[in-house]
Amino acid sequence: MNIALLGFGVVGSHFYTLAKEHGGVKVTTVLSRRPRPELDCTVTADFDEIVRDGSIDLVVEVMGGVEPAFSYLSAAMRAGKHVVTANKQLMCAHYEELLSLAKSNNVSLRCTAAAGGGIPWLTSLARAAENDRITAVEGILNGTTNYMLSAMTNKGSDYTAILKEAQALGYAEADPTADVEGYDARRKLVLSANLAFGVSIREDDVPCVGISHITPPDIEKAKELGLTFKLIARAEQSGNKVAAFVCPTLFPVTAPEAHTDGTGNLVSLYAKRIGKQSFSGAGAGGFPTGSNVLADCLEIRRGGCGVYYTDRSKPCPVDNSAAEGRWFFRHNGEYLFFGDYTVAQAFEVYEKYRQDDPTALMARVAAPRKK
Ligand SMILES: NC(=O)c1ccc[n+]([C@@H]2O[C@H](COP(=O)([O-])OP(=O)(O)OC[C@H]3O[C@@H](n4cnc5c(N)ncnc54)[C@H](OP(=O)(O)O)[C@@H]3O)[C@@H](O)[C@H]2O)c1
Repeated sequence: MNIALLGFGVVGSHFYTLAKEHGGVKVTTVLSRRPRPELDCTVTADFDEIVRDGSIDLVVEVMGGVEPAFSYLSAAMRAGKHVVTANKQLMCAHYEELLSLAKSNNVSLRCTAAAGGGIPWLTSLARAAENDRITAVEGILNGTTNYMLSAMTNKGSDYTAILKEAQALGYAEADPTADVEGYDARRKLVLSANLAFGVSIREDDVPCVGISHITPPDIEKAKELGLTFKLIARAEQSGNKVAAFVCPTLFPVTAPEAHTDGTGNLVSLYAKRIGKQSFSGAGAGGFPTGSNVLADCLEIRRGGCGVYYTDRSKPCPVDNSAAEGRWFFRHNGEYLFFGDYTVAQAFEVYEKYRQDDPTALMARVAAPRKK
């Protein structure tokens, strides 16, 4: 199987090495804006060359961003080429169009590395959803914020200093907004919820609070209560409603989430018959992510894997009016606990608090009730 690789950055270069080592698929062309004399395959800056090349069976997209990735992958599918991408931003922005293009051109579309990096999360979720009813998915899906929260909790690091450190280590982008405000976790949640529940929810419908308002006194307060902050993305289905949100969550220090440190991810599915299954590992990084991209290519090469993980993708509004939780707020310096608010009510309260205290904090409490 011949592959054209779009993008030769962190994921692309590691995927290239892994594909070469494996030998089961061959990268014959790399799309690059700059010369790559070190590569012994065709290097082109012209995507049309790739579309016209009938010997290319599959296009791997690891450039990032919505455009030109969307136009390129659409053209590749129209030309009958299978597609593998690690790009959650693109998958969320054009979910239904991409699925429909894959279907109408009878090609396979896979994006396992887009949620969970190196963890075979989406493939496992799809398998579970095929023969069981998934009731919820939830987890730590962003390594950057987990690295920052771990350091703030375990070493007392300051938010600004640890963000700078994460940037210096290559864990956070120069513009860290997508990570620290929870948008990256939200995109991964959308892809997970879509597979778990056979729906198509919109990123913008999912309320989202990141970690940028968590202060050292908040961390200390949590510690006094035997709790630890984690940034959690959660979606649940009850009846035909899908609830989904991203926000800091307080776990007992004994919970597995509280022990997921550094850039690690931990994500779980809850299903009617198989119960809870959790997956942990490297949510990012060249080799882990590149390895999941290669696994997608190999699955397509084996054949019989269908168009997408699921053929169910019913458009569905996000409805947080029934999902309940317990909540922790800081408003004008005062800590407040509320029990049994719906998710929608909790986000409303938070919005109200933010009007006179823009640095107000909101967190869900995922600890058993004290008797
Ligand atoms: N890094 C991770 O651990 C990770 C994990 C999971 C998913 N992902 C996803 O994987 C994708 C790639 O991430 P990355 O970390 O590998 O990014 P990266 O290191 O910034 O690499 C992006 C590559 O794409 C190239 N590129 C961008 N726009 C292009 C264009 N219009 N034409 C040709 N080449 C173009 C860049 O070329 P130049 O060098 O010329 O700019 C660069 O080689 C993203 O969607 C990301 O969300 C990454």
